[in-house]
Amino acid sequence: MIMVTGATGNLGRPLLAELAAKGVKVRALTRTPGTVRLPAGAEPCDSAAPDFDGVTALVLNLAALPGGPGPLLAAAKAAGVRRVVTLSSLVVTEDRSAGEGSAAAVHRELEAAVEAAVPEWTHLRPGGFASNALQWKGQLAAGDVVRGPYAGASTAPIDEADLAAVAVRALLGDGLLGQALPLTGPEGLTTARQVEILGEALSRPLRYEEIPPEAAKRAMLAHNPWVDEAAADSLLGYLATTVGGPAVVTGEVARVLGRPARTYAQWTAEHAAKFLN
Ligand SMILES: NC(=O)c1ccc[n+]([C@@H]2O[C@H](COP(=O)([O-])OP(=O)(O)OC[C@H]3O[C@@H](n4cnc5c(N)ncnc54)[C@H](OP(=O)(O)O)[C@@H]3O)[C@@H](O)[C@H]2O)c1
Repeated sequence: MIMVTGATGNLGRPLLAELAAKGVKVRALTRTPGTVRLPAGAEPCDSAAPDFDGVTALVLNLAALPGGPGPLLAAAKAAGVRRVVTLSSLVVTEDRSAGEGSAAAVHRELEAAVEAAVPEWTHLRPGGFASNALQWKGQLAAGDVVRGPYAGASTAPIDEADLAAVAVRALLGDGLLGQALPLTGPEGLTTARQVEILGEALSRPLRYEEIPPEAAKRAMLAHNPWVDEAAADSLLGYLATTVGGPAVVTGEVARVLGRPARTYAQWTAEHAAKFLN
């Protein structure tokens, strides 16, 4: 039995689908166990009262742990859970200027806590998720302009389906134990170009308009409950350093999965319907 925190989230959804397709039993933590819809084989569990009975491995997602990972890791350790797959972040290695409370520091502490708690771990260190585009949905309902920071920021968004596929390898096999994997999409794209590609999928002439970092910070805090002021400052600071590129593109998804990482155009085409309502 695998316990998944953030089971209804951007990584959790495709991860549960992959595990269900393989017939793996999942305990899916959520704040809404009574109403949540899950794939067959996944049983809902209240994230406020996690049940570790029969659990052998845990997927740890900070977004679902507003009080930090300590209590859940302690409970997992006490229950004899041996394996944790950590949803960490690329900024752990890429944001070298990071100070206290920064996203890099928070994820470094998360990884250290995992390593202290269990003998078997794999840290997934993704760059920006392709699904971050969903934060533009409200703006797209109002028109064809997306406003945000640093039009020229250069990143390689990763499709969460690829992240989920790597997580499944880390959960079910031993080949990735003790590894921290920097995971990105296959190509560097400016944020402005990402918006154009989304426009192609939606058959709309979308364009990106840069706004000052302070306004972008307010939007980031409103959209991401797991991001506080220090983390937002550090993430925007890191983004600024990517302007002019080249983006960090690691090739780790292809190495682990034995096939190319999925492109941003593939993600936008597959998820276009989510921008329509
Ligand atoms: N987004 C990125 O670009 C990125 C890049 C690198 C690393 N990361 C890492 O990925 C993590 C996930 O980020 P995400 O934005 O994609 O989030 P997410 O995984 O989509 O959200 C996870 C889940 O957390 C639960 N949740 C939300 N607020 C909660 C709260 N206050 N208390 C308890 N549960 C709560 C929700 O489930 P229920 O509603 O079912 O309870 C939600 O589905 C981040 O924390 C970060 O560590 C993200």
